[in-house]
Amino acid sequence: MTTTPPSPSLVPTLPGRYYTDPEVFRQEQRHVFEALWFCAVRGADLERPGAFRTVQVGRESVIVTRTRTGGLRAFLNICRHRGARLCLEESGEVRRTLQCPYHAWTYDLDGRLVAAPNLTKMPDVDRSAYGLVEVALREWLGYAWVCLAEEPPCFEETVRGAAVERLGDPAAVERYGTEGLALGRRVRYDVRANWKLIVENFMECYHCATIHPELTDVLPEFADGYAAQYYVGHGAEFGDGVQGFTVDGSEGFGRLPEVPDGQDRRYYAVTVRPTVFVNLVPDHVILHRMFPLAEDRTVVECDWLYAPEVVASGADLSKSVELFHRVNTQDFAACERTQPAMASRAYRAGGVLVPTEHHIGGFHAWLLGRLGEPPA
Ligand code: FES
Ligand SMILES: [Fe+2]
Repeated sequence: MTTTPPSPSLVPTLPGRYYTDPEVFRQEQRHVFEALWFCAVRGADLERPGAFRTVQVGRESVIVTRTRTGGLRAFLNICRHRGARLCLEESGEVRRTLQCPYHAWTYDLDGRLVAAPNLTKMPDVDRSAYGLVEVALREWLGYAWVCLAEEPPCFEETVRGAAVERLGDPAAVERYGTEGLALGRRVRYDVRANWKLIVENFMECYHCATIHPELTDVLPEFADGYAAQYYVGHGAEFGDGVQGFTVDGSEGFGRLPEVPDGQDRRYYAVTVRPTVFVNLVPDHVILHRMFPLAEDRTVVECDWLYAPEVVASGADLSKSVELFHRVNTQDFAACERTQPAMASRAYRAGGVLVPTEHHIGGFHAWLLGRLGEPPA
């Protein structure tokens, strides 16, 4: 293979093996998903005490529970006796305790070992030493973010900081009141592509004119391939005549109460590395959570969140949801079309980024830094 001489307009991407090599994915599980804050579940999905959900975070299964006092706790989903997986279901609800299906060791919702067969015949056992292994948890935007690291990185810097850096104002994201919104729709996409292809796709709009006709009708500046989402504080403005962020530009719902005039009629996108995208429009918030399951498979859960009264009224959300559902479908199809090519000899040295994609190089540098590798 010959290497093409560099041209300042074109910056190299990562080589193809970063998207196909199981060993690279294993290193990412270790140094990215298990090391950083990972957005696991929406708090309102665990409404009542005893509700739980299990999620895959890197190589670990994590269980998030709603406790009797109303808080959220996260634990490794592993029994301390002989290691059976405690909860096999993705979600469920128990009354007071989680019982291991193997020998019935039983834990309360705060992870304490409360009972085990014959435990009373072992008076020397200190139960408090055999509680479930706790995982750090923070709540933000109405979601539980968990971190498996022994010493989690600063949440303010690495999570909230992403929104501040993008929007240029610490208050901007908070004005949407995301934690108080109600779930209007959730769609789960099982994408046959590496998680980084999905991040890279979300970070650029060079493809918008080609594959997103509905989106570029609503946000005409996206038709230029302009990476509007990466100019600090800039939100793409709705086109003239567009009434709302809907599939046909028809009217949406009332503006969320704290969203100021300056943020009205605009779309803002924030990437919170490694696995979250937040999309802000005047009347709703769309939040994507990625669950990278293999080097070539990523589940994406996308939530459309509206003012509680909009959801309670039974209003027809279909035109509102349809716009970004189409965008998702178009984007994920593009990622799936790209994934097989990552293993081709044509992509051994990677591809190139055009100027409106150059900022993706920052994501690559960040990733290589996490993996402890020199720039490609
Ligand atoms: S492995 Fe859980 S009770 Fe034995
Ligand atoms: Fe897209």
